[in-house]
Amino acid sequence: MTADPAPVLWRNARLLPCDGHTARLDAAALITRGARLEWVGRERDLPATLRAQCQEVHDLNAAWVTPGLIDCHTHLVFAGTRAYEYVQRLRGISYEEIARQGGGILNTVRDTRLASEPELFDQSAPRLAALCAEGVTTVEIKSGYGLTLADEARLLRVARRLGEAFGVRVQTCLLAAHALPPEFTGRGADYLDTIVHDWLPRLHGEGLVDSVDIFVENIGFSADDAVILFEAASRLGLGVKMHAEQLSNIGGSQVAARFHALSCDHLEYATPEDAAALAKSGTVAVLLPVAYYGLRETRAPPITAFRAACTRMAVATDCNPGSAPGASLLLAMSMATRFFGLTPEEVLLGVTCHAAHALGLSGAAGALVPGAAADFVVWAVREPEELGYWVGLNPARAVIRSGRLAAGHLA
Ligand code: NIG
Ligand code: FE
Repeated sequence: MTADPAPVLWRNARLLPCDGHTARLDAAALITRGARLEWVGRERDLPATLRAQCQEVHDLNAAWVTPGLIDCHTHLVFAGTRAYEYVQRLRGISYEEIARQGGGILNTVRDTRLASEPELFDQSAPRLAALCAEGVTTVEIKSGYGLTLADEARLLRVARRLGEAFGVRVQTCLLAAHALPPEFTGRGADYLDTIVHDWLPRLHGEGLVDSVDIFVENIGFSADDAVILFEAASRLGLGVKMHAEQLSNIGGSQVAARFHALSCDHLEYATPEDAAALAKSGTVAVLLPVAYYGLRETRAPPITAFRAACTRMAVATDCNPGSAPGASLLLAMSMATRFFGLTPEEVLLGVTCHAAHALGLSGAAGALVPGAAADFVVWAVREPEELGYWVGLNPARAVIRSGRLAAGHLA
């Protein structure tokens, strides 16, 4: 039997708990025990008996502290780049045209299939490292660049391995329904059938799948395809999510809402009715402003409707080689304020508690509450509004993961 880990006190902090009701706590403290938060509150309310048990004490010098950030939508495991397509797009060829000509996602599929597992790991690691340096402690990684059973499995395994190597929580998401692979040209229904009856149960059986996603779009899959996939995922008890309403509206979010999807992501072309349906089903609207920027989109998601309906909004990087080449959640936060008009408070909740909700991790991560993971960031900022304000400057001073200093310094 292992002894209970000793409690550690982190005192003299200004906390942004992101727990859904407390805005800020001054002169506050945290007590961690091992990988969990045990106590959170104002220092004057800290029970003396608990205080006396803490041999290890860290003075945070009145620094602002948030939960570890959560990037709830990435495709960060892939090989190669699509810089040449970016140049094509700069010349005026659209993302959709490139996809219709067999490029886009399928170009990355080609490169990814050719890469060995260690190569995939090595190419993807710097992207995860960049996120971690900004205080990301939980990240979702989707498959979707393999599109065979063996290649999707490789992507998901690399995702898991990256999580272990970096000591961060990785939630894997099966996105086999990302594009129709060349082997199935003209046989979309067969492809979906293969995913549903073969790949999904097998990959789930291997413990490689935390949730299931589908790209619902004219250049992707239909809303009816999503119904078939979501029914299969639900039978296995897996959470579902959807790339929806990114380039057009073909009814994705209404299906996502019907299935109580964890999240619906992109949503530039979502309607107020979609916003209301998502709010009613408890589905998080995940905003991906780096893709909006990367595609030079001009239509912003319906933020006013999300606010009116009280739809939870999260913000993520969408890190991928096509629409959103980048690995900075802080930049995504800045873009969400500037492009979409989110307030600094909304953006912070969007990368903490609402992002946790989008991953089915509510209460376990993304909030400074007792029982949650002891993941938090100590920021070198004067005001919390600086998060999502700086561009190209990373004010994370220290990142604590599972109760231990993982990056930066405390003094
Ligand atoms: O979230 N839209 C589909 N999937 C990604 C892009 C993938 C790619 O272009 O490689 C997205 O934008
Ligand atoms: Fe995406």
